[in-house]
Amino acid sequence: MLKALELFSGIGGWKYALESINVSVEKICPFDISPVSNQVYQFSSGITPSKVPIDKLKVKDIDELGCNFWMMSPPCQPFTRNNQTCNRDTADPRAAPLLHLIEILPLLNKKPDNIIMENVVGFETSECCQLWLSALLQCGYHYMQFILTPTQFGVPNDRPRYYCLASLEHFVGSNSATNSGEILTSIPENSFSACEYEMKVIGYYLTLPSSISPSDAEEPKMNAHSAVSEETFDAFLVPESVINKSSAWCFDIVTRHSTRSACFTKSYGRYIKGTGSVLFLDENQESATQDLPSGTGEEVRSIEREDAGSNKKRKHVPLHSSEFLQEPSERKYAEDWQVQFNKRIRYFAPSEISRLFGFPEDFQFPTEISLKNRFSLLGNSLNVTVAQALLKYLFKLA
Ligand SMILES: C[S@@+](CC[C@H](N)C(=O)[O-])C[C@H]1O[C@@H](n2cnc3c(N)ncnc32)[C@H](O)[C@@H]1O
Repeated sequence: MLKALELFSGIGGWKYALESINVSVEKICPFDISPVSNQVYQFSSGITPSKVPIDKLKVKDIDELGCNFWMMSPPCQPFTRNNQTCNRDTADPRAAPLLHLIEILPLLNKKPDNIIMENVVGFETSECCQLWLSALLQCGYHYMQFILTPTQFGVPNDRPRYYCLASLEHFVGSNSATNSGEILTSIPENSFSACEYEMKVIGYYLTLPSSISPSDAEEPKMNAHSAVSEETFDAFLVPESVINKSSAWCFDIVTRHSTRSACFTKSYGRYIKGTGSVLFLDENQESATQDLPSGTGEEVRSIEREDAGSNKKRKHVPLHSSEFLQEPSERKYAEDWQVQFNKRIRYFAPSEISRLFGFPEDFQFPTEISLKNRFSLLGNSLNVTVAQALLKYLFKLA
């Protein structure tokens, strides 16, 4: 029976991953200092996380909890590419709780049987990582390291992350990758990493319409997923004021037919570059951009828009969609892009991002959590589908 300590619990990504696999869980003890994260965690699970800072936990406190499994995503800011200051890694105050865990793990009377950790890519080259791995060895753990991304699991979203699995037992099929500097990019033993993953399209994850103008249609068309009441189509259209910024050229644009999207960060909806994809809206649900060439061809599609209520043609909008759908760094600059984006791109709704991240359908935010906070909490969270595959491997589940 698992008694899990969920350190840096955020909105509970590890909890959902653990609950989705076939193991008996007796209790989960989450810890996080963020009142907003804790409010969401409590709302969705009924469990109130402890707000005691992890760097203040004593050996006695952890021993008394009696947890035999730890799962954690320590703050990533000390290790991100943006943080190239001299205050990074061990010198960053945000690394203090992890350094504290490194210090007290060897002092525990009852060490957890298994530990799983997630962090950003870059952690693996840090001094913190070296200290963590040394502490694991000192305590008799076997460890394995991975860098995995959801696209490897059939989910059309990039989110490469570092994972470290540690166990007092041997891993299955691990060989040379155990207790070494080797970083695996797939999970060994296919029987454990389960079936073949078929890549899904973005449309599968949408709550809100992906067509250009729901007001022109009789009813906004929803797909299989129900819309959360406070998520309305108009609220997620990228405003003209944002499109008119020169940086809007850097929007990463996908359609409902795409099999990729960019990594969603905590700045999604506030900054444009590198924070996540926006959705290009089809003219209607049927006439998709799916048949457009994916290369850099010169094909230009003219779309005729009829004025509602009259037969007067409004204008021809040239759509170089095949080019816009490339990643920003790869596409050629087009002069008329602002016209073409206007009212044709929208942000992903939090329910759509949480679905891409593998959160269960009944995961919801309390209504008082602002949109900015929802994006921020999701951007800090993890992909439950990837976490689930690693947990299955760790617990030797077929
Ligand atoms: C990367 S996020 C974890 C995300 C989480 N796995 C999830 O699914 O949402 C890191 C979390 O660590 C929390 N945190 C930072 N310093 C902390 C400390 N000293 N004690 C406890 N929690 C802390 C932050 O509030 C944040 O929620």
